[in-house]
Amino acid sequence: MCGVVGYTGTKQAASWLLDGLQTLEYRGYDSAGIQVVSPSGNLHGVKCAGRVAVLRERAAAANPVGTCGIGHTRWATHGAPTDRNAHPHLDGTGRIAVVHNGIIENFQELRRELMAAGHTFVSDTDTEVIPHLIQEAWDGPAHGDLAAAVRNACDRLEGSWAVACVCSDVPGTLVCTRNGSPLVVASTDDGAYCASDVMPLAGVTSHVLQLDDFDVATLSPDGTVSITDRDGRKVEHPSAIDIDWDASAAKLGGYSDFMAKEISEQPEALERLLKDRLGKHGIELDELSLTREELAAVDKIVIIACGTSYHVGLIAKAAIERWARIPVAVEYASEFNYNEEYLVTDHTMCVVITQSGETADTLTAARRMRGMGCNVFAITNVLGSTAARESDGTLYIQAGPEIAVASTKAYTAQMVASYLLALRLALANGSMERAEVEKHFHELETLPDIMREVLARRWQDKQAARLFRGKQSSLFLGRNVNATTAYEGALKLKEISYLHAEAYPAGEMKHGPIALIEGGFPVVAVVPADHVHDKTVSNIQECLARGAVVIGVATDGDERVAKMCSEVLWVPPVADELLFPTVAVIHLQLLARYVARDRGYDVDKPRNLAKSVTVE
Ligand code: AGP
Repeated sequence: MCGVVGYTGTKQAASWLLDGLQTLEYRGYDSAGIQVVSPSGNLHGVKCAGRVAVLRERAAAANPVGTCGIGHTRWATHGAPTDRNAHPHLDGTGRIAVVHNGIIENFQELRRELMAAGHTFVSDTDTEVIPHLIQEAWDGPAHGDLAAAVRNACDRLEGSWAVACVCSDVPGTLVCTRNGSPLVVASTDDGAYCASDVMPLAGVTSHVLQLDDFDVATLSPDGTVSITDRDGRKVEHPSAIDIDWDASAAKLGGYSDFMAKEISEQPEALERLLKDRLGKHGIELDELSLTREELAAVDKIVIIACGTSYHVGLIAKAAIERWARIPVAVEYASEFNYNEEYLVTDHTMCVVITQSGETADTLTAARRMRGMGCNVFAITNVLGSTAARESDGTLYIQAGPEIAVASTKAYTAQMVASYLLALRLALANGSMERAEVEKHFHELETLPDIMREVLARRWQDKQAARLFRGKQSSLFLGRNVNATTAYEGALKLKEISYLHAEAYPAGEMKHGPIALIEGGFPVVAVVPADHVHDKTVSNIQECLARGAVVIGVATDGDERVAKMCSEVLWVPPVADELLFPTVAVIHLQLLARYVARDRGYDVDKPRNLAKSVTVE
């Protein structure tokens, strides 16, 4: 959601700003803009609704010249996605330009106050109050000190923000600050940079600094970055992260889209995650901040997540309850946050699952769990993300940058991270012997090769995708852990193909959704060779009896399913039925992608969606 970039230095700013915005496209947006300051203090802005590619064309025609500037991709919250509402926004004198990620909750009150003082506004955004407030401070108490003016202005804000600001009175100076929305800065030989996340910086530096809430950074053309805190005191040791993703990891590398690339990267992602995890203490999970004794005492686990990560939570629950015998509750963060009666025990542990580490609902929930005295353990993909910084311990899934909005490789890597956690807990509390834990770990090690085999069968998904032509809706069914596979498959299909998909535990279908089924209605049934196989087969029969066209996701050699289904997406046998979701979901990711492409959609940037949802 909204991307911020900024640069001041020796090279022309517009070119890097546009490249930086392009790498932030994955966050989801509907308009974009840049503002460049020339050394003589001319502000030149270009902005438009639509893609960065459109902005690039307009910038090429306008040719904004200057070595300092800011850029933005906007995901509309206040005001429609139009040229006028796109960032950057200017103050009343046209000297100060601002980009902003987040939401200003008290903007209406501020706007009224500023209008009463003679300010006029040209957009419908909450953001526009910020440059006007900076103008008030700049011409007033903070005269000549842009950092002080930005700090004064932000002191008036309620809500969340990552803000970058330039001013024609101080042409090479760029000031940025944050509260609740991520922002990183970097100092290099050719200048200083800021960005919403490390992705745009991966090509320019391997070392970035993280701002804490209310820190204000002043970036200078010689590359100097000076950070002060809320009270204006110098921050001597800002927290730093080393980027270990090389820039090429965020490039297509021969694939037609990032979703295809990321689906294909799943085996290697799991291999990285599992490497060196079996050691002399059993499962090595030093990322946990609890001692073995404290782990053994955990008597309840609350998993907090949203969307696809919530589905990981459902699988994690099954693994933890089965292997570690600890009761688990899985909560949608957005629901948990408004459940005032939530109960925890003295030894409740909270597990936060979030690919981006920036999902606003999840962060709020995690803070609340900490406030309730729980140890918070984060499973995330993004180095230095807010979830990682605010948790007691963090397990990075090391899946590499996930650019496509629809999560794929992060889903399976988070799932395997959860299996590791379950095994570690089982060992700590004695519910499993070490030999048994090791056996399960070795079963996890077989997953990458099974994934490779599923990936080699992608033609099956392409073929099955044809059954969705001309359809308006579909039903995904599965039992036990594969009800979750059905939920995730349906979510993927909805996200990128805009085709309605309902997902249900197969046995629950007859209590309502069966009414949807008529001749030719597509049903995807996840029906592995597991302990509920016969039950799911009966549900498939019920669908067939009403004319459904059934696509099965089944274990190799299942003749019974082959006879019933119009298409079967075959999965090699797995050592433990708990692991089937990790590999079977690849078929459903591929299926969704083929259906979406068949319908002519951009699978990487589905409409209305954002990669990291930083508003509640
Ligand atoms: C996944 O395909 C979705 N785009 C979405 O449901 C996502 O999983 C959700 O917004 C949570 O994101 P997070 O893992 O970054 O917290």
